[in-house]
Amino acid sequence: MSTEIHVEIDRARVRELTAREAGVLDGRTPGSKDFYERARKSLVGGVASSYQLRDPWPIYLSHGKGAQVWDVDGNEYLDFHNGFGSMVQGHAHDAISQAVTERIGLGTHFAAPTEDAIVVGEELARRWGLPKWRYVNSGSEATMDAIRIARAATGRETIVKIFGSYHGHHDYVMVSIGVEYDRIGDRLDLESLPYGMGIPQAVVDLTVAVPFNDAEAMERRIERLVDEGRAPACVIMEPVMMNLGVVLPEPGYLEAVREITRAHGILLIFDEVKTGLCIAAGGAVERFGVTPDLVTLAKALGGGLPSGAIGGTDEAFELVEAGKVVQVGTYNGNPLSMAAARANLLEVMTPEAYAHLDTLNEHLLQGCRSVIEAYSFPGYSVGVGSKGCVTFSPERIVDYASFKANQDAELAELAWHYNMNRGIFMTPGREEEWTLSITHTIEDCDRFVAAFEEMAHDLTA
Ligand SMILES: Cc1ncc(COP(=O)(O)O)c(C=O)c1O
Repeated sequence: MSTEIHVEIDRARVRELTAREAGVLDGRTPGSKDFYERARKSLVGGVASSYQLRDPWPIYLSHGKGAQVWDVDGNEYLDFHNGFGSMVQGHAHDAISQAVTERIGLGTHFAAPTEDAIVVGEELARRWGLPKWRYVNSGSEATMDAIRIARAATGRETIVKIFGSYHGHHDYVMVSIGVEYDRIGDRLDLESLPYGMGIPQAVVDLTVAVPFNDAEAMERRIERLVDEGRAPACVIMEPVMMNLGVVLPEPGYLEAVREITRAHGILLIFDEVKTGLCIAAGGAVERFGVTPDLVTLAKALGGGLPSGAIGGTDEAFELVEAGKVVQVGTYNGNPLSMAAARANLLEVMTPEAYAHLDTLNEHLLQGCRSVIEAYSFPGYSVGVGSKGCVTFSPERIVDYASFKANQDAELAELAWHYNMNRGIFMTPGREEEWTLSITHTIEDCDRFVAAFEEMAHDLTA
């Protein structure tokens, strides 16, 4: 995938172009600057979530339709961020808007079950091949409850996660993420480190991290935990690692993880908050053919409304069914979210929609690949379903350690500025993958490629 011989990137040129592009963006977004100055008086950092922060100010959006979004200065962008992958349907999709509008007139919240919740559960069971479902309101709630269910089912407390993977903002999983390369630790004994302050050490100690794409390292770590009397309740993992671009599972890896977890009586949780609904109708479970005990969904499930779900086997949900694990929430199965999810699943994210996403993504990935080859650029393009990225590394990234060893944050930052100034909206300040929506076109993908080519040209000219 990577080019064999690549150009040396001139670092001074990267900084010069970044300064130039940042100046252009600042000049185009005075309205966002004004909003920021107002917002920071009442909102911490001027934003609703720290993931929306950006220096010198965030870009405040006013509206979106289909593949486009507009900022408060009236700048128009093609949206490749798509709400961290929540908007694979495109913005303000008619079917979802209609379902939500109809539901509003009938009452928006009862904290009592509605028919839409049943329909959504039936469709998720069909797509994922997992019989039982419960709802929550976010990805964090989904992974938190799934871990509790696994702990109860096994009577064990330790959990295993993949080093560098993000599973939401609750304490159990805010461990061993965003760690600098020299603090990752020994491959067979990776560090458990809190992600930010306020996380109890006792909780951190219950979470053990292993490298992605290394079934042997996982097995050896699990065997050691068993020997220490700390057998794990679950392995929670993204079947395709995201939030650092896209890292695909090596052939056979997911199957091996399934075998290891089964052999040790460990529940396997696939966190499909990002992959679910975005890479296939039945997410990674369909795409890779490996079925976990529990799966977590959120983001794209609700078509832009807060939502989340946990799916699982009858055995995994036995103690919830028996009332011994308390899985609850006032807004679980909220009628508005369920109406949106129903329309999303039954009318919008159809087999044709997934075929369209695959066609678009292949075109976009190939377009980026051609630029990389033409300019001998250090990097490669990789993706699946609606997700993809250009990874600015001459080496192939297989896990968090290889990501950190090869990360080129400066180039990622420059690419973000090039995109924003050429009408391509991407996730601020993060090495995120893109998410295409079903409303994107081949021409939209070509615009992304053109912005990338301009950067490659300017850097290598
Ligand atoms: C894989 C994964 N799991 C869980 C979460 C948490 O989801 P939420 O932000 O809805 O709580 C995220 C969010 O980015 C995620 O990427």
